Amino acid sequence: MRIVSGMRPTGKLHIGHYFGAIDNWLRFQKEHECFFLVADWHALTSDYQDTSDIPSHTQEMVIDWLACGVDPEKAIVFQQSQVKEHAELYLLLSMFTPLGWLERNPTFKEQKQQITDKDISNLGFFGYPVLQATDVMIYKGQGVPVGKDQVPHLEITREIARRFNNLTKTEIFPEPEAILTETPKIMGTDGRKMSKSYHNSISLSDDENSVEKKIKSMVTDSNRLRRDDPGNPDACNLFPLHKKYSPMDTQQEVRQGCTTASMGCVDCKKILLPNINNWLNPIREKRLDLENKPNRVREILHTGNQKARQVATSTIEEVRKTLHLAS
Ligand code: TRP
Ligand code: SF4
Repeated sequence: MRIVSGMRPTGKLHIGHYFGAIDNWLRFQKEHECFFLVADWHALTSDYQDTSDIPSHTQEMVIDWLACGVDPEKAIVFQQSQVKEHAELYLLLSMFTPLGWLERNPTFKEQKQQITDKDISNLGFFGYPVLQATDVMIYKGQGVPVGKDQVPHLEITREIARRFNNLTKTEIFPEPEAILTETPKIMGTDGRKMSKSYHNSISLSDDENSVEKKIKSMVTDSNRLRRDDPGNPDACNLFPLHKKYSPMDTQQEVRQGCTTASMGCVDCKKILLPNINNWLNPIREKRLDLENKPNRVREILHTGNQKARQVATSTIEEVRKTLHLAS
């Protein structure tokens, strides 16, 4: 199966990114042909006014991918903007995309309401899902590991692929499927969705001190007001972290202690801390190593860009022929 996924270059990643997507990337790169892209053009759809952070954010993000175990020997790791064929297919697919599909896109409606500090009433932002569809379709992607928030975009991708195939009476593009990671969802320290802009995230690059501070400040079961009150792990932000990081018997011990009030939240957090740190340690180490080799990341991207370009070129030639645009 062909797998395509990407992330906007937002800089250092947090554990929500890991369990929301990278976890799946690592599984798929073992057995499938994978394309993982830095969606730098997507970053521009809302942040075109100041693009100066893109290089450093790309560097930081790719370092995190590699530190987590994304393997450039197995997967093609590349930059969207360096494969210009994306731009051509984007243009062509835009002809096949009815405005209604974009107007109805829930992410678009939501962000237009929520984003008030930037002007996003531009064509590029409106066309965001078409650009994303292009990323997947140009590699004939069949599976797209993403977080749940991307499902509407995948739906639009499928519709564009279907419409293109129908109108051209071809089967050039497969209809890709979203591949979601299993729950439980990792929440931020304040109980909202983990997100850099909320300042509630635990980064893959956080040192032991800051992880400790963050875990200590994390809100738990809001109904457990006093130490003597029994708690409910299933209504607690912290418990999903135990599910990810603590061994099964510890999880059971915590559940038991919490629901009978024999364990307090402070102790519960103390048990979690070394488990998170054990998991983060090898990532921190690889990160440090890569930070000392800035050329390494550049080389990996350069090779990835070339490999991606080859596949993208062959698709675009096929599309040109189909649309009678060949020279
Ligand atoms: N829109 C995705 C996000 O914000 C990033 C993305 C860009 C992507 N191109 C993609 C995801 C292609 C999957 C496939 O997370
Ligand atoms: Fe959450 Fe642990 Fe407190 Fe229970 S004891 S509410 S699981 S932090």
